[in-house]
Amino acid sequence: ADKTLAESPPMGWNSWNTFYCDIDEELIKDAADAMVESGMMEAGYEYVCIDDCWMAPERDANGKLQPDPETFPNGISALTDYVHDKGLKFGIYESAGTTTCQGLPGSLGYEETDAQTFADWGVDLLKYDNCGDHYGLSAVERYTRMHNALEAVDRDIVLSICEWGDNDPWMWAPEVGGDLWRTTGDIKPLWSAQEDLWGNGIIDIIDQNEPLAEYAGPGRWNDPDMLVVGVDLPEYPNLTEAEDRTHFGMWAMMAAPLMAGNDIRNMSDGTRDILTNDEVIAIDQDPAGNQATRIQHIRGEDGLPRSVWAKTLANGDRAVGLLNRSDRRTTVTTSAQAVGLEAASCYVARDLWNGTDWQTAGLISASVPSHGLALYRVSSGSPDGTNPFATVSLGETE
Ligand code: DGJ
Repeated sequence: ADKTLAESPPMGWNSWNTFYCDIDEELIKDAADAMVESGMMEAGYEYVCIDDCWMAPERDANGKLQPDPETFPNGISALTDYVHDKGLKFGIYESAGTTTCQGLPGSLGYEETDAQTFADWGVDLLKYDNCGDHYGLSAVERYTRMHNALEAVDRDIVLSICEWGDNDPWMWAPEVGGDLWRTTGDIKPLWSAQEDLWGNGIIDIIDQNEPLAEYAGPGRWNDPDMLVVGVDLPEYPNLTEAEDRTHFGMWAMMAAPLMAGNDIRNMSDGTRDILTNDEVIAIDQDPAGNQATRIQHIRGEDGLPRSVWAKTLANGDRAVGLLNRSDRRTTVTTSAQAVGLEAASCYVARDLWNGTDWQTAGLISASVPSHGLALYRVSSGSPDGTNPFATVSLGETE
């Protein structure tokens, strides 16, 4: 196999979820600045990515892609230089058909030319969409062509396959050199799909991505689409803070690529705190590369749906998510045994939202707000090796 360009799920920012086609080079530079100033870069975000609409409507006389002269007057090379100077990487967008989804020139039939252009420009990641005419060629054929073209150039370029899960890409994407592949249609800042609004909500996407855990691992990631944490669209209800946490926490549990999609130039402290939560990011980036599985999916006595998620981490700890899908606060409960930890006299559960540790004989339980996610990192034994129950029996409580 090829060397891995995405040992852990890629992290970055992409223009699409907030800006759609309303992009230009100033926005991208400002986003790169914001990535540094907000602390996102320090937290691990790396790729600054433009999506659809960066191109001029026609190729040049040599058949090469060219940036829109109005919005990217200084060209893409100048932009990648700007991004690289900050220690960040640059992602670009194209499509494995005759056009992009917004009707601009696609790469089908131009794979080698375009791969060379991207390499010449200093591109580090290609999000490769699936719009336009396919001339009857299969997705495998079309994505293989671009992969081979990228392999032939003298630059490492991550291939992000954006085929929306239509042709079971998890079955073939790693073989054709995809480092990550979309498993679903487009995400929108919604809890669940609504008839009057186009797109998937985060809970729909979680349900679609959930059965695919076995396909994820270092260098090959299920991509349940980019983040909508803090995305504010006038026509959508947007997510509550609890939903934003659930979204980010579940993407981390699922070892998903973390591509922020909000306006990072102007984000609230709350949004920034979620996006830069080191301990949640560590769950996402854990070197074992496991995608969490849903180990319990139940209706409580109150009839409200809740589910328990577990992910085995490289050091043997378990990340545990207690998800309340209902519209009321409810208690969600599991145990150290149920999440796969070996028998021990006690366990430490670290709450990853507020950084507090609590000790337990095995019960893992929390009162979770509507659409909320309690998220713990659970390890065997007490933090200092003492037996907490002995301490309790002595009555020495703080
Ligand atoms: C469809 C993709 O799924 C989106 O993420 C975005 O890239 C649009 N195409 C752009 O047209």
